[in-house]
Amino acid sequence: MDIATKLLHTGAETDPYTGAVSVPIYQVSTFDQKEELSEYEYSRSGNPTRAALESIIAQLEGGVAGFAFSSGMAAIAAVTLLFGNGDHILAPKDVYGGTYRILSKACGRWGISYNFIDTTDFEQIVQAVQPNTKAILLESPSNPLLKVSDLPKICAWAKERGLITIVDNTFMTPYLQRPIEFGADIVVHSATKFLGGHSDVVAGLAVAGTKELANQIGFLQNTLGGILGPQDSWLIMRGIKTLKVRMDFAQQGALKIAQALAKHPKVKHVFYPGLPDDPGHMLLKSQADGFGAVLSFELQTPDLARQLMTKVKYPAVAVSLGGVESILSYPATMSHASVPPQERSALGISDALLRLSVGLESPDDLLEDLFAVLE
Ligand SMILES: Cc1ncc(COP(=O)(O)O)c(C=O)c1O
Repeated sequence: MDIATKLLHTGAETDPYTGAVSVPIYQVSTFDQKEELSEYEYSRSGNPTRAALESIIAQLEGGVAGFAFSSGMAAIAAVTLLFGNGDHILAPKDVYGGTYRILSKACGRWGISYNFIDTTDFEQIVQAVQPNTKAILLESPSNPLLKVSDLPKICAWAKERGLITIVDNTFMTPYLQRPIEFGADIVVHSATKFLGGHSDVVAGLAVAGTKELANQIGFLQNTLGGILGPQDSWLIMRGIKTLKVRMDFAQQGALKIAQALAKHPKVKHVFYPGLPDDPGHMLLKSQADGFGAVLSFELQTPDLARQLMTKVKYPAVAVSLGGVESILSYPATMSHASVPPQERSALGISDALLRLSVGLESPDDLLEDLFAVLE
């Protein structure tokens, strides 16, 4: 079945109890068990609306089971706690700021150590592995520099060594990229972004590629308790139904805007793997079905970046991405504020860098808006 059809028909989109074509919001905390033990007993452990979303994301990603959390970070935190005292995790240097924070500021409390490396450089991964390394976390394309890592190669190599690969698939979504097909063990999402798609819900998802990992993540979801509520689960399911049309339109706009910005004299560099001369272009083309709707660009001066943020008309100037409205972000003080300034600039995240999540406005109007400020 083509992914376009699968986004609407996984078998979990219809309510099994009533046949309703939109699974109802089972706004309930507990389930009466007088007669016989029902499938559900308490909504932290399981809720029919959440279960429908969990089944849908598992099937879209090609995994064994899905788990819905109250935020992307709650999903990432639960997955991190699959590891414990003495374990070591590798992650990209330019990983999302919240993931950087959990690894660098919280994992030490549980005895988990980490190293940040450039995961686009396969040799660096090989060199960084320690005897106690248990997992490699990947983000491809990365945030905010849109760097592409070789997922099939890394996953295959990790599998041979018994390492678990965790891929944050937020930027691509299963519509464009399905890491489990390449051998990844776990996929995580900030469903707040393209899956929800309307900037109206904070949610996280994890998908396990094996039964054993599914049991462990399920245990942690119930134990830690950071579950997604039924109303928010319903909103994410509704978002998924229009994912294809939103993503198709937004990524066409992203390409047009990236091409135009790349020619502008006040733009130093555009980071977008959809551009044929981007270093990640060919690799992303080989492992994904599109280039996504997020691009970053570095202006000639930080002052120009600040002016753009205050004067731009259409995009929201905000954290987050993947909404129907375009969102302009300033990584230095937003998504990557928890990365120390020297490390940020070593990574190439300068104070003149802006990230644009292209929404569903006309790309021509967005360009006119951006160019008016730049000029
Ligand atoms: C790539 C990526 N992963 C994870 C997260 C965290 O998700 P949430 O904000 O839903 O907790 C974000 C948030 O921006 C993100 O961009």
